[in-house]
Amino acid sequence: MPDAAYGVRMRVLVSGGAGFIGSHTVIQLIAAGHDVLIVDNFANAKPTVIGRLESIIGGHLQVHAFDLRDADQTERLFAHERIDAVIHFAGHKAVGQSIKQPLAYYENNLGSTFVLVAAMARHGVSKLVFSSSATVYGANATVPMKEDFPTSATNPYGWTKVMIEQILCDVAVAQPSWRIALMRYFNPVGAHASGTIGEDPSGVPNNLLPYICQVAVGRLEKLRIFGDDYDTPDGTPLRDYIHVEDLAAGHVAALARLTSTDRAVSTWNLGTGTGTSVFNMLHAFERAVGRELPYEVVGRRTGDIAASYADPGRANAELGWTATRTIDDMCVDAWRWQSQNPNGYPDA
Ligand code: UD1
Repeated sequence: MPDAAYGVRMRVLVSGGAGFIGSHTVIQLIAAGHDVLIVDNFANAKPTVIGRLESIIGGHLQVHAFDLRDADQTERLFAHERIDAVIHFAGHKAVGQSIKQPLAYYENNLGSTFVLVAAMARHGVSKLVFSSSATVYGANATVPMKEDFPTSATNPYGWTKVMIEQILCDVAVAQPSWRIALMRYFNPVGAHASGTIGEDPSGVPNNLLPYICQVAVGRLEKLRIFGDDYDTPDGTPLRDYIHVEDLAAGHVAALARLTSTDRAVSTWNLGTGTGTSVFNMLHAFERAVGRELPYEVVGRRTGDIAASYADPGRANAELGWTATRTIDDMCVDAWRWQSQNPNGYPDA
């Protein structure tokens, strides 16, 4: 039975539900008593994640394998299924690739959102939780970052998040009965405690933790630290790493809040409020693995900023939610996943 704190039971469509954050959120939605439908085109997720999810939840998952940009299939889904709310995770997310293929990024991330929101409007579905990012604070924000800061971006991926936030605000003006949550994630890491689901990037990882994981498991030779000459305590940049299980819990709390808030659009940072350096993260991971890991300090990565961490006060107060897992928890759980699945999810 769901905890009363989770409020109304809903039938929730989770787009990108086979992805890293989506999959962890699906488990917590079900644990909270919600019914879940997944829509995912499996462009950046393996179908084998579904079986793993079903083992964890001990039940069957309804999965629709298509691209949200397919307006006919999306319409059919909304016409045939009762849907009370949508959590929209689906989207491309690789910064470097977005710079090389800007049109593909705008086309995919904006196009899928247009089709999804139009179908919601036609079928009277008015609760939406959107997967945004702290990247919308741009390159010049002070820390800690607060939701009322101005938004901007430094790459097409980031602009898709800024633009979709704006589009959803405009939708809410036109349809004031809608309840929309813009969730700004800081740096999601970690994995489910079972070690059976986790982050499985395609190609060489761009992000720090997946890269360290692959060094630890022997797939990559050494970590390259992008600069140790920043104006921070140890010279490496500070980031607000947040356990994906805390992030998932934030979505469940946001969904509940949408049933009681009077605000059409709510923006919530999901972070811990603490900045951790690259060296501190590496050392925490070494503790989890039980040995030192090879690294080399190289030049700065273009576009990196010295410090990014949240002021999570609004989410803490309005959602009754706080990130509870430590950096060591994140590393232990990420390592359990990576060591049990050295090559990520199997193909079939
Ligand atoms: C990056 C993206 C951001 C996106 C986020 C998604 C860039 C410039 N920013 O954020 O837009 O929203 O991922 O999760 O790509 N680091 C290394 N060596 C590595 C990898 C990373 O030293 O091999 C360092 C980086 O310099 C940074 C820190 O680790 O200081 C975290 O990097 P990363 O995990 O890529 O996250 P962000 O830069 O915060």
